[in-house]
Amino acid sequence: MPSPTDLRLYFRFTLLLLLLAPLSSASVSPYLSPWMFTSSYVHMLGNFKIFVYNSDKRFNPKSSAESLFHASLMNSSFVTRDPETADLFFVPLDSYLSMRSISHVVRHIRTELPYWDRTLGADHFYVSCSGIGYGSDRNLLELKKNSIQITCFPAPEGKFVPHKDITLPPFSTSHLVELQVPKNHSIKYLGFVNRGALKTTELIDELVKDPDFLVEWEMTDRLTSSKFCLFDYEGDVSWIGVAMQVGCVPVVITSRPIQDLPLIDVLRWQEIVMFIGRSQVGVMELKQALGSVNEDLYRKMQGVCMTASRHFMWNKPAQPFDSFHLLMYQLWLRRHTIRYARRGWA
Ligand SMILES: *[C@@H]1O[C@H](CO)[C@@H](O)[C@H](O)[C@H]1NC(C)=O
Ligand SMILES: *[C@@H]1O[C@H](CO)[C@@H](O)[C@H](O)[C@H]1NC(C)=O
Repeated sequence: MPSPTDLRLYFRFTLLLLLLAPLSSASVSPYLSPWMFTSSYVHMLGNFKIFVYNSDKRFNPKSSAESLFHASLMNSSFVTRDPETADLFFVPLDSYLSMRSISHVVRHIRTELPYWDRTLGADHFYVSCSGIGYGSDRNLLELKKNSIQITCFPAPEGKFVPHKDITLPPFSTSHLVELQVPKNHSIKYLGFVNRGALKTTELIDELVKDPDFLVEWEMTDRLTSSKFCLFDYEGDVSWIGVAMQVGCVPVVITSRPIQDLPLIDVLRWQEIVMFIGRSQVGVMELKQALGSVNEDLYRKMQGVCMTASRHFMWNKPAQPFDSFHLLMYQLWLRRHTIRYARRGWA
């Protein structure tokens, strides 16, 4: 006889397969490990527990993504009032806090409750859009070196620790409106370029003159008539999720390897976007690179993009598999932290 728990898990699992079914029709999966993602996600839904320090205090975040993350977390069933059952501990930090005040917050946590010292902060996380720097003080040092930091994407240079830290999928206001994808998706341009999002003005000047590219001041639904959407890693990437949603395959121009991509532990980014080194970028090189993608490969990339785009959506309230849930999933993957030996209090 299956126990009620088994049945609940079975039910949840079936539900999940149903949810994923429309996704799996794409010939290539966007996930690094589709099976592990599915089973581990279900496991997270039923088991993940987070203790929030000072949960009754108002929290003042800076960016929309931070604010939605916080509100969704507080609204969710992941939050527990019993720290003994928690997998991770959330330290809310207001965006206006100075380094000194952040140090005070950590010192307070460490003296009030035993959990910080148990791992020196390694099973703790905080959200800070612009990230915090290194401080010499012990509290700041442990927070920065051990705790999981969630920043906005891209993370400011030097403020991101690969494999430990996480970036928030960018928030774009158009995530919240129904973007109309035209039924007859006729491709007229090779690339869509948002002037504001590209750093290299010489490149923009050349692109404007080229009829294969559509250069506009902001994102419009005309991006749906382009095969590729151009982004600059150091520019405005907030609409990358929207581009993916409508099947405009992102091309990211960058001068260095990118280690802070959102959902980097989950998605096969190499199959989703094209990365182009800044030094190679002129119109000829760009056309050559984009032109080298044959129709088959292009359709695959487009399918993968559209499938993965749901993980870039911010919803209120949060929906299965959206940005909030994928952030939770990435935290879940990081919950097995080193527990330092218990000291006296136990
Ligand atoms: C889509 O529109 C283009 C012109 O805009 C037309 O040539 C083509 O036949 C249309 N395709 C379909 C499937 O309606
Ligand atoms: C919190 O939950 C309520 C009730 O389900 C919902 O109306 C609200 O939009 C949610 N807020 C967020 C930020 O998810």
